[in-house]
Amino acid sequence: MKLVVRNDDRAVAALTARLVADLLKARPDCVLGLATGRTMERVYDALVEIGHAEALDFSRCRTFNLDEYIGLPPGSAHSYRAYMNDHLFSRIAIPLENTMLPDGSAADLAAEAARYEDAIRRAGGIDLQLVGIGETGHIGFNEPLSSFTSRTRDITLAPGTRRQNAVLFDGDIDAVPRRALTMGVGTILEARRVVLVATGAAKAGILAQAVEGPVTPMISATALHFHPDSLAIVDEDAAPHLKHREYYDSVFATDPEFASFNA
Ligand code: F6R
Repeated sequence: MKLVVRNDDRAVAALTARLVADLLKARPDCVLGLATGRTMERVYDALVEIGHAEALDFSRCRTFNLDEYIGLPPGSAHSYRAYMNDHLFSRIAIPLENTMLPDGSAADLAAEAARYEDAIRRAGGIDLQLVGIGETGHIGFNEPLSSFTSRTRDITLAPGTRRQNAVLFDGDIDAVPRRALTMGVGTILEARRVVLVATGAAKAGILAQAVEGPVTPMISATALHFHPDSLAIVDEDAAPHLKHREYYDSVFATDPEFASFNA
């Protein structure tokens, strides 16, 4: 894992969007793994901005989202499909049929999970997977005790996750679904690159545990230590408890991957 600390959430979003944009330029038919949540809103704003400024071609890329709620009414504005359409897909020229999310309204959730895994496989696997981190340490909706070999499946959301996400349901925790379909930790680890994005003081404690603490299925983000190419991009507000900050900063200053950001 590499870890980069940027000044604020805007700088985090700019770096993350730049990595996605560079991949798209190098491989217009790449497969992107996407996430939802408040952290990603700024990332998608930055990606849309770069897309316009640099005439990025999204027409041939395909996207797979991490997760979707189960049990929302059809067409719900709270679905992750609605989120993705609002925050990204309606703002770039991507054919909607190239954008995939698990279907949380499927009658047979196990069959839907298997279909989703198969679709990722048939697309050739995910080139770059964006993940946020929840206050429970989840990536995707892989709550505590998720096996590191888990695949796409339905799962019960942790009470802490439902509290965290209630703000997106007008503060009404009872409106937050209790279950979701999520890529598994094992699914995420198969992406060729995983980029974890964390901003804000609310993430400071869990980020330090995820990055510098022991590897444990109680915090699914710690599984990223098993990935050969994972990168965490975090802001100062999320970084105060990191013990090896001096090293992380020296990586950012010297690693050729970040040379253009130090110019
Ligand atoms: C979203 C997802 C979650 C979020 C995480 C952080 O698709 O899978 O893991 O990335 O809960 O959410 P925010 O950014 O709202 O703090």
